[in-house]
Amino acid sequence: MTILITGGAGYIGSHTCVELLNSGHDILVLDNFSNSRPESLDRVKELTNKSFKIYKIDLLDKAAVEKVFSENEIEAVIHFAGLKAVGESVEIPVHYYHNNITGTLILIDVMQKYNVFNLVFSSSATVYGIPQQVPISEEFSLSATNPYGRTKLMIEEILNDVYVSNNNWSIALLRYFNPIGAHESGLIGEDPNGLPNNLMPFISQVSIGKLSELKVFGNDYTTPDGTGVRDYIHVVDLAKGHLKALEKIVTFNGVEAYNLGTGKGYSVLEMIDAFEKASGRKVPYVIGPRRPGDIAECFAKPDKAERELGWKAEKGIKDMCIDSWKWQSQNPEGFQTNEHRNKYASTLKS
Ligand code: NAD
Ligand code: UD1
Repeated sequence: MTILITGGAGYIGSHTCVELLNSGHDILVLDNFSNSRPESLDRVKELTNKSFKIYKIDLLDKAAVEKVFSENEIEAVIHFAGLKAVGESVEIPVHYYHNNITGTLILIDVMQKYNVFNLVFSSSATVYGIPQQVPISEEFSLSATNPYGRTKLMIEEILNDVYVSNNNWSIALLRYFNPIGAHESGLIGEDPNGLPNNLMPFISQVSIGKLSELKVFGNDYTTPDGTGVRDYIHVVDLAKGHLKALEKIVTFNGVEAYNLGTGKGYSVLEMIDAFEKASGRKVPYVIGPRRPGDIAECFAKPDKAERELGWKAEKGIKDMCIDSWKWQSQNPEGFQTNEHRNKYASTLKS
């Protein structure tokens, strides 16, 4: 299949590109590199020994998106492109709504024009808002607690409406839990801009010495050790879930949501312990107040994905930490290699 990957240079997108190429699919990547670097795609090529077209395009540029569809025989789209920082979405909501929702509307419109009706969309466990109970299954009620979450929820609703208007569509809404880890080669991984918002990149940067200590956001939750519990999933398992979703959508018309998680929750303190074992380094931490908007526990009931997609997460917490550490320790500056830093420094000098 020829698959367009929007946001393919990003963290989850780049890992999915590797899995797709290794399974014999042809891919094209569309990304504006607003939260990624072209080097991630160089690494994807290096890892797979395969080549593919890269379009440096903003999804908001409809004419440019149309050109991609007119130049290629696209059969399906995996839509990762979007902004994802919860705190930032509270500060600049209009930017988030415009980028994530308008970008998706443009994509849908162009897909319809070119008769491409197979879509896999990156949704999030955030659409469950404050869940009534755990584990969370797909039929739980949906809500949002911040603008980022609302973009995901609105896009899910828009895609449902789109299907009602045209029954040719086949859409999988993949609700990711907490993706962490990296490709086992250590060549690609998560490369956040600035101070990381999420736990695993923060722990990794403390371990490498870029940050002095981790602040644990609250130890007074009603969880076994008082710290927040989440369903961490290895990014390579998550990437494989996209292949399974693609295989599924070509067999039906409709919209189906799937939780992609392991079904098991780990606390912040358990994550620190697992990471220390994987890296052999201490992770200094202090207990701080709760982070506004955080919930005590969040983990998936992943049975539907297993039953209907034939997908199940295989990697455990040990692999997740080993691979996160391998990526971080081999690439302390992320994709910004020495070569690039030197190039930049000489540009500044001249
Ligand atoms: P990421 O930021 O690494 O990747 C997103 C990519 O989209 C980036 O390469 C960025 O440059 C690109 N992009 C953003 N806006 C664009 C636009 N207008 N036009 C073209 N490209 C654009 O994020 P990720 O962690 O790989 O997440 C991928 C998707 O999964 C996102 O939609 C995110 O909301 C969703 N998601 C992520 C997580 C997570 O914890 N990482 C959890 C749930 C859902
Ligand atoms: C965050 C997002 C959520 C998104 C999810 C997956 C927020 C409020 N929510 O949720 O929308 O779907 O990531 O990308 O940002 N923690 C610390 N110290 C830190 C960082 C985190 O103790 O420096 C704790 C948190 O309180 C939480 C756990 O670690 O208990 C995981 O945090 P994080 O990685 O940010 O993920 P989520 O809170 O699940």
